[in-house]
Amino acid sequence: MSQKLDFKTSVSGHGQHDLELRGIPLTTLIGEANFVSTLFLSVTGKKPTAAEEKVLNALLVGAIDHGIDPASGFVPRVVASSGNDVLTCMASSLLALGPYHGGAITGAMEVLKAVDEYSEDTEAGATWLVKTYRADKKRIPGFGHPVYTKKDPRTEQLFILARNAGLDIHYINIAKQIASVLEAELLKPLVINIDGALAALLMAMKIDPLAGNALFGVARVAGSIAHIVEEQRSGDWVRRLPDGAVSYAPDTQKTQK
Ligand SMILES: CC(C)(COP(=O)(O)OP(=O)(O)OC[C@H]1O[C@@H](n2cnc3c(N)ncnc32)[C@H](O)[C@@H]1OP(=O)(O)O)[C@@H](O)C(=O)NCCC(=O)NCCS
Repeated sequence: MSQKLDFKTSVSGHGQHDLELRGIPLTTLIGEANFVSTLFLSVTGKKPTAAEEKVLNALLVGAIDHGIDPASGFVPRVVASSGNDVLTCMASSLLALGPYHGGAITGAMEVLKAVDEYSEDTEAGATWLVKTYRADKKRIPGFGHPVYTKKDPRTEQLFILARNAGLDIHYINIAKQIASVLEAELLKPLVINIDGALAALLMAMKIDPLAGNALFGVARVAGSIAHIVEEQRSGDWVRRLPDGAVSYAPDTQKTQK
């Protein structure tokens, strides 16, 4: 079925004098705004408060880089080593994100919202959530980390900053309650990871959950630029796994059938 290519948008377009973003001329924003406040304006349709601008800036900083070890770090370097241009490599960094790595924010925001709506009693809501996820054998987005087993230092720092900036900490408390119920259930601590931290802060700023993963992606893809350029300038090409990194064991029982 065909559809006409006419769009309705309240995000941006040509206004009376100029290209406008959410009703403000882009030339005015160029002169007066910074990137973080403009990103907030673009996503929400309103200018951020001082606290919102500070916290959004901090969470973008917190997500920008986590070394080469995770997939969003090493994948773009491998893709760069094959001779690809910077944009292709940046796209590969984004593609390396997913529900288990940097792409759990939207899901975590929905979880925090569900607990909030379940009951005014946060503990009852958290208990309901953990039991439901455990019964379905599903992992709760925003919790757990392969390296940080006791606490995620990025989460700690972001929560301190948000509290000091005066941001609403309601969703931080819900996240902490879920972590506490999870720990009691699993008999081991499960940290609120960076995705969970971002979820709590973005909920407090009333950002649409659909944009949650994108904000992590914006930060991490920005952080990939330096890695890609370093790799491209290194003169070392076509990375391969070191000897012994792959163990090959064909399933001969299957092939003989
Ligand atoms: C991040 C993650 C992939 C780390 O996985 P991992 O290194 O295998 O985690 P651990 O070894 O600490 O945990 C293993 C056990 O803890 C439990 N567990 C870990 N994360 C859990 C979660 N988010 N919710 C519920 N239980 C969880 C499970 O019982 C798991 O056992 P299983 O393998 O039988 O399912 C995992 O915690 C996860 O999937 N988290 C949810 C997604 C998420 O937040 N991703 C963003 C990461 S920054």
